[in-house]
Amino acid sequence: MNFLLILTLISIIVRSRQENASMDPCNDFYDYVCTNDTRSITKLNFASLFDDREILKPNISFPNNGTYIALDQILEPDRLMKWYMTVKSLDTATVDLEYFFETHYEYISKKNDSEKFSFAVETLENVNLTLTNIFYNSLYANIKVLNQLNLPAAEENKFLHHISNLLKNNTIEEIWSSSLSNKSKKVLDEELNNSKVFFGLLDYNNVTMLEETKLVYETEYYRLKSLLSSDDLDTEIAEKILRLGAIDTATKYLAKRIPGYEPEFLFSAFASNMENEAFKHNSAIYAGIVTRSDLQQPMLAIADTVSVLAHELMHFVYPSGTELLTPNVTKAAKKCTQDEVKRMGDSDVVKPIDGWFSKKVTHEDLANIMGLRMVMKMVARKSASEEQLKNALETLLSGLCIQGKPKNSILPHHHPFEISINTAVRQYPLFSSLYGCRLGDRMFAEAEQFCKPLGGEVNLEDYKIKNDTEDIGGFFTYIMDTANAFNFSFRN
Ligand SMILES: *[C@@H]1O[C@H](CO)[C@@H](O)[C@H](O)[C@H]1NC(C)=O
Ligand SMILES: *[C@@H]1O[C@H](CO)[C@@H](O)[C@H](O)[C@H]1NC(C)=O
Ligand SMILES: *[C@@H]1O[C@H](CO)[C@@H](O)[C@H](O)[C@H]1NC(C)=O
Ligand SMILES: *[C@@H]1O[C@H](CO)[C@@H](O)[C@H](O)[C@H]1NC(C)=O
Ligand SMILES: *[C@@H]1O[C@H](CO)[C@@H](O)[C@H](O)[C@H]1NC(C)=O
Ligand SMILES: *[C@@H]1O[C@H](CO)[C@@H](O)[C@H](O)[C@H]1NC(C)=O
Ligand SMILES: *[C@@H]1O[C@H](CO)[C@@H](O)[C@H](O)[C@H]1NC(C)=O
Ligand SMILES: *[C@@H]1O[C@H](CO)[C@@H](O)[C@H](O)[C@H]1NC(C)=O
Ligand SMILES: *[C@@H]1O[C@H](CO)[C@@H](O)[C@H](O)[C@H]1NC(C)=O
Ligand SMILES: *[C@@H]1O[C@H](CO)[C@@H](O)[C@H](O)[C@H]1NC(C)=O
Ligand SMILES: *[C@@H]1O[C@H](CO)[C@@H](O)[C@H](O)[C@H]1NC(C)=O
Ligand SMILES: *[C@@H]1O[C@H](CO)[C@@H](O)[C@H](O)[C@H]1NC(C)=O
Ligand SMILES: [Zn+2]
Repeated sequence: MNFLLILTLISIIVRSRQENASMDPCNDFYDYVCTNDTRSITKLNFASLFDDREILKPNISFPNNGTYIALDQILEPDRLMKWYMTVKSLDTATVDLEYFFETHYEYISKKNDSEKFSFAVETLENVNLTLTNIFYNSLYANIKVLNQLNLPAAEENKFLHHISNLLKNNTIEEIWSSSLSNKSKKVLDEELNNSKVFFGLLDYNNVTMLEETKLVYETEYYRLKSLLSSDDLDTEIAEKILRLGAIDTATKYLAKRIPGYEPEFLFSAFASNMENEAFKHNSAIYAGIVTRSDLQQPMLAIADTVSVLAHELMHFVYPSGTELLTPNVTKAAKKCTQDEVKRMGDSDVVKPIDGWFSKKVTHEDLANIMGLRMVMKMVARKSASEEQLKNALETLLSGLCIQGKPKNSILPHHHPFEISINTAVRQYPLFSSLYGCRLGDRMFAEAEQFCKPLGGEVNLEDYKIKNDTEDIGGFFTYIMDTANAFNFSFRN
């Protein structure tokens, strides 16, 4: 054998060991499940949200009698500022929460409306014209996409809201069975009970309503335009303010049609309908399904939704409700989670890029740990064998696999997805016993390493199948039976 051949053989052996090691559930559960991902994620066909789309002229015209109003009369400074912030928040890759806090505090320190207006105008430099037109672009895109997809039309999708209520109830139960103070439990219960969920492209997906909203936007834009002098109209700032003014009116119109949600929430929701997104904004949760899933594999699409909702519901605690917990509990939970995430990141065969770790985003990993634990308790109640527990865990993970991106890619304001997910699985208290993982395996956590996000000990019994559970085929069989009972399908 010559030297090169030996080297090649060694490298083949090393590589196959690595590949095989990564398909070991005790080494990398994400890879173990996701190597079998056969989903074909729904591809939407729509014009870019970042096109400088011309605003159509409605049939009404607004003649001007020769008197003009000043630019600062188009929109009150508070609303101008609010819409600046909302529009800017879509630019997630470049800004974080601190930027919004700082800008907000600087704004409220201004003494009078004219100072406030000047400050708002200054901040508007930070967004380009296209971004100020993004609501119009997204209405256009939503109409186009809804006409292409044959989705079931509804105000609220009954089945999906049933699932979100089920998860909400279980989150409330988690809170009540925790060691939080009664006062904190009450506050969280009330907040969760009052929270609302909006499913992108599946709730309020009435095309006519969106066409009407688009016409409201166009009409308001041209009405406001007719009030400005040609000198003002020559400036870029005037164009931005006009568009934000049209957003203000159009989202208010939409909020009347879709009661219970703030206009800013609806703005972000309809803009997010084209993206692979989910978020919590004050007391409302947005969840995209269509753009994240393969609608030909409804069980995996629903599994993804279950994971996403559980994550967003946990954000009521971390970070929104952190002040309701005692500082020693949150401090210990954060430290534990950070250690876990670092351990998983540093030991991955695919190393994330330098500087990937940030303490500031620990609440995202906590939401994953808490969300998965809650769902696995729900799974336990519907499972009659350990095989069914494993099936449910694998189904949950299969719905989450990322496609078309290198593993451990940097995500804005989160740790790399695969690391955070593997951390949550490692922190699922029954994981190692189900898969036979042992001390020293990457996915094996010792009992002392289990994080305690709400204080209180981890109780293994909560996760175990009960001997008297009737065999209904496991958690996702139950979920799909429920879907059938609601006559639910992703096709109209
Ligand atoms: C992995 O292990 C299996 C059997 O355990 C073996 O057949 C295979 O060649 C190994 N390598 C790869 C890359 O699958
Ligand atoms: C992945 O597919 C292989 C081959 O069909 C199968 O042996 C294995 O059990 C699957 N893994 C999981 C986690 O489903
Ligand atoms: C506007 O007018 C054109 C022709 O004048 C007509 O085709 C169109 O339907 C009208 N649009 C609306 C929204 O009324
Ligand atoms: C001109 O139009 C403005 C706005 O519509 C109105 O407030 C104003 O009274 C009008 N002025 C005259 C002279 O008609
Ligand atoms: C607003 O406050 C600034 C600075 O305090 C002052 O110079 C300006 O005259 C005030 N403007 C009005 C309209 O009160
Ligand atoms: C406007 O800003 C957005 C967000 O930063 C960016 O994606 C887009 O390319 C910009 N458009 C232009 C024309 O510069
Ligand atoms: C959630 O809890 C409420 C109040 O206890 C109950 O009325 C509702 O049926 C529950 N929903 C689900 C889906 O479990
Ligand atoms: C908290 O509320 C429960 C009933 O919900 C009650 O049994 C318990 O005594 C209360 N604990 C404290 C410390 O008030
Ligand atoms: C929860 O909210 C519903 C309305 O959505 C209300 O009827 C119910 O009383 C609330 N329950 C609690 C415990 O606050
Ligand atoms: C959709 O909206 C239009 C216009 O507002 C309304 O007339 C129609 O009844 C709505 N359709 C459904 C199914 O709610
Ligand atoms: C946290 O502090 C409280 C008192 O402030 C104490 O009762 C509790 O046991 C502490 N919890 C932990 C996990 O140390
Ligand atoms: C459940 O059944 C298994 C074997 O069938 C038994 O080993 C175990 O003790 C039982 N657990 C409980 C809680 O009854
Ligand atoms: Zn999150």
